[in-house]
Amino acid sequence: MAAPQVPFTVMAEADREAIERGRKLFAGGCDFVKGVVAMDGLPAPDRPEVCFAGRSNVGKSSLINALTGRRALARASNTPGRTQEINYFSLGESGYLVDLPGYGYARAPLEKVAKWQDLLRQYLAGRVTLARAYVLIDARHGVKPVDHEIMALLDRSAVSFQAVLTKADKPKAGELTRTLETVRADLGTHPAAYPEIIVTSSEKGDGLPLLRAAVARLLAE
Ligand code: GTP
Ligand code: MG
Repeated sequence: MAAPQVPFTVMAEADREAIERGRKLFAGGCDFVKGVVAMDGLPAPDRPEVCFAGRSNVGKSSLINALTGRRALARASNTPGRTQEINYFSLGESGYLVDLPGYGYARAPLEKVAKWQDLLRQYLAGRVTLARAYVLIDARHGVKPVDHEIMALLDRSAVSFQAVLTKADKPKAGELTRTLETVRADLGTHPAAYPEIIVTSSEKGDGLPLLRAAVARLLAE
């Protein structure tokens, strides 16, 4: 069967009110709630949440810090496998931001890695209040086989996900355009993919107002 013809345009703007709602939501304060190591440790499912998934080192924790304007809210580092628990952050009373451990290669003991890999898959497939998964893709590398595996899990679990390109400050302009072309084709094979891509840089701030607006809209629904 041919892949569905969905454009997967790059999100370039949101209306001014949506941007303002996003700004306000994230300016309202964001606090660490808890780190979770097993499904029975998840907070009560009493509000919507969005999560940040992606390969180890793709920039999940850095993106949470950049969105909230807090340098060290989520622990980021150059060592793949930094985040080893499902970390919950509250956005006022509106909802939760969830920082996930990475999938793929991690510099940590195998047994530990296997445990968090299992947990993050259970979480992605079974969290009832998960309004959307943001699947982060390195702007230099595009969608890798392990990303496809996670996207297929989201397809099967009917969890809507949106692709977010990270580290957009790194590739040259031509390289970014080429990555975007391959990412579009890759997303076309996943029915649960939201048809817009957000391009971000936590370092330079690109795309952050758009992503804040998108999260605010989801948490308000
Ligand atoms: P794990 O928790 O190990 O899965 O990694 P992560 O996805 O949370 O990545 P993290 O935020 O820890 O960032 C990994 C590395 O990428 C760090 O050295 C960051 O400084 C760097 N990084 C993250 N975002 C950006 C970005 O937008 N631009 C650049 N140039 N570097 C970034
Ligand atoms: Mg992390």
